[in-house]
Amino acid sequence: MASSSAVFAVALRGVRFSWPGQARPVLDIADLLIRPGERVFLSGPSGSGKSTLLGLIAGILQPDCGSIAVDGAALHTMSASARDRFRGAEIGFIFQQFNLVPYLSMIENVLIPCYLSPQRQARALRQAGSLRDAAAHLLERLELAPEFWERPVTRLSTGQQQRVAAARALIGTPALLIADEPSSALDADRRDVFLKLLLNECALAGSSLLFVSHDIGLAGAFSTALRMNDLNAAAQGETM
Ligand SMILES: Nc1ncnc2c1ncn2[C@@H]1O[C@H](COP(=O)(O)OP(=O)(O)OP(=O)(O)O)[C@@H](O)[C@H]1O
Ligand SMILES: [Mg+2]
Repeated sequence: MASSSAVFAVALRGVRFSWPGQARPVLDIADLLIRPGERVFLSGPSGSGKSTLLGLIAGILQPDCGSIAVDGAALHTMSASARDRFRGAEIGFIFQQFNLVPYLSMIENVLIPCYLSPQRQARALRQAGSLRDAAAHLLERLELAPEFWERPVTRLSTGQQQRVAAARALIGTPALLIADEPSSALDADRRDVFLKLLLNECALAGSSLLFVSHDIGLAGAFSTALRMNDLNAAAQGETM
């Protein structure tokens, strides 16, 4: 979609958001710009609106006012179903609890975005020749051996589940990868390995990355570090 925001992976301007029934807005953000390929680290205290902001950028939530564009597409002007289609095609989301489908195998979980989005499927096919190979290449690079691929995800370790969630977010190269505290359940060594693999994959795919974490020690691996309390004029929550 051609617009003046197309040079940005993410462009938020004058965005305010309140949860229903709440008198005060939780978010009041004048500007947030992320360039294509940029790796952004976002930190902030619990309750400061990090997940709410990710929901707005993913088009799950709509702002009370202001504009939100992802890869040049103006989400705030789209219907809910158009936002769902756009998210399916262009946004990979790694949730804190991973949200894997328990009755599916590792490889079936990774392929879900390709079944939901024709664009993701077409890109995965173009890149790897078959959907299975697209998933297999990602799982191999994320250090998940073939012996696990057909295993139900309930029989995997936390670190393995996290890498499956990353592979699912990355398949079919979305323009933007969003990660909401994906490493909080891991010990420091595993966390560092995961971050390295994730940054590698984003670089290979040319995806921009917006990574939320409480763990300020990770910020050095990113091109930009943002704090919610600087970004958000409606800042609330504990100080950090
Ligand atoms: N579904 C919801 N309905 C109403 N209020 C909500 C909802 N989700 C979050 N909130 C409120 O919005 C504020 C910001 O919550 P949010 O989950 O975005 O914070 P966060 O920075 O992600 O916190 P954490 O670090 O604990 O994950 C909180 O005051 C929270 O109570
Ligand atoms: Mg959160």
